[in-house]
Amino acid sequence: MRKVLFLVVLASLCLPFSVCAQTPSRPDLLGHAPIAISQDGPFVRIYSPEVREPVRLFVISDTHLFLSDEREEPFRDYSKRMAAAYNHTRNIYSREETDPEASFRKTLALAKERGADAICLLGDIVSYPSEAGIELAVRLLNETGIPWFYTTGNHDWHYEGMEGTEIELREKWTQERLAPLYKGYDHLLYSVEVKGVKLIFLDDGVYEILPEQLAAFKQEARGKQPKLLFCHIPFYAPGFGVTYGCGNPDWNEAHDRGFRAERRPKWPAEGHSAVTYDFWKAVGKACRQHRVLATFSGHIHKQSFSLVDGWPQFVTNANAEGGYYEVTLEPMP
Ligand SMILES: [Fe+2]
Ligand SMILES: [Fe+2]
Repeated sequence: MRKVLFLVVLASLCLPFSVCAQTPSRPDLLGHAPIAISQDGPFVRIYSPEVREPVRLFVISDTHLFLSDEREEPFRDYSKRMAAAYNHTRNIYSREETDPEASFRKTLALAKERGADAICLLGDIVSYPSEAGIELAVRLLNETGIPWFYTTGNHDWHYEGMEGTEIELREKWTQERLAPLYKGYDHLLYSVEVKGVKLIFLDDGVYEILPEQLAAFKQEARGKQPKLLFCHIPFYAPGFGVTYGCGNPDWNEAHDRGFRAERRPKWPAEGHSAVTYDFWKAVGKACRQHRVLATFSGHIHKQSFSLVDGWPQFVTNANAEGGYYEVTLEPMP
């Protein structure tokens, strides 16, 4: 039986619980509102006095759709490995054999059945920028009638072995192929509002954060409005490996084991830029002050939870194997 996690994140972790318990639904003197989070398998519940009405979100990452057609022919050398990477999978709950498209369809049907207010797509939805795969994703998402929002992973835009820097290639293929998924939003960072909750989508598909992303996040994270941050690559958290790579001190050339298979430049010898570390600190600060209630990522293909100095981070199972999160936000009871 899956371990049930229940934790109460207090506004000031130094206060005894009894002190906070006397005023459970009021902001404290620092302006921080207490929040509570519970998780059981794919179900995450977040309670905050700043949430005005229930909000239900479906979080989907790592579907790895691999469909392509004749338009892909000139690019086969760049996409052949990932086109064969996740063609046959096994559902993590039922253990039945399945595949990425069937898993995606099933999760979208469930989102509709459960009355989701929005679907949040956290990257690696396609295994490479196949036009047919992107068109399929957009069509299936539109058919749900549910508002949906997307950010990229490290594969959606990546043609393995293509000349260029990661940032240049991400920009090129995001503009040329992923535009129908972004629907006009800025891929670097954008936000939307769903029933009073701000959803911030960050593109950290190259592990590194650009200065304009840091500036945009600081702007978006202001104010008491409840917010969630969504991105593909999880943030550094003690106890996890370098794949929790955004802001990870071990993210550097010496620890890069994937560059050959993915046919991309090695991670830099010096590791992350100062901007990426500043971004990590800015997210942590926003979480500690409960301006951001939690962050959600994918990439690892395995569900996990971490709490770093008041920063709750959820990582979801791969949707290629039927994984997803159903996140509900509710006013503090
Ligand atoms: Fe993935
Ligand atoms: Fe990934």
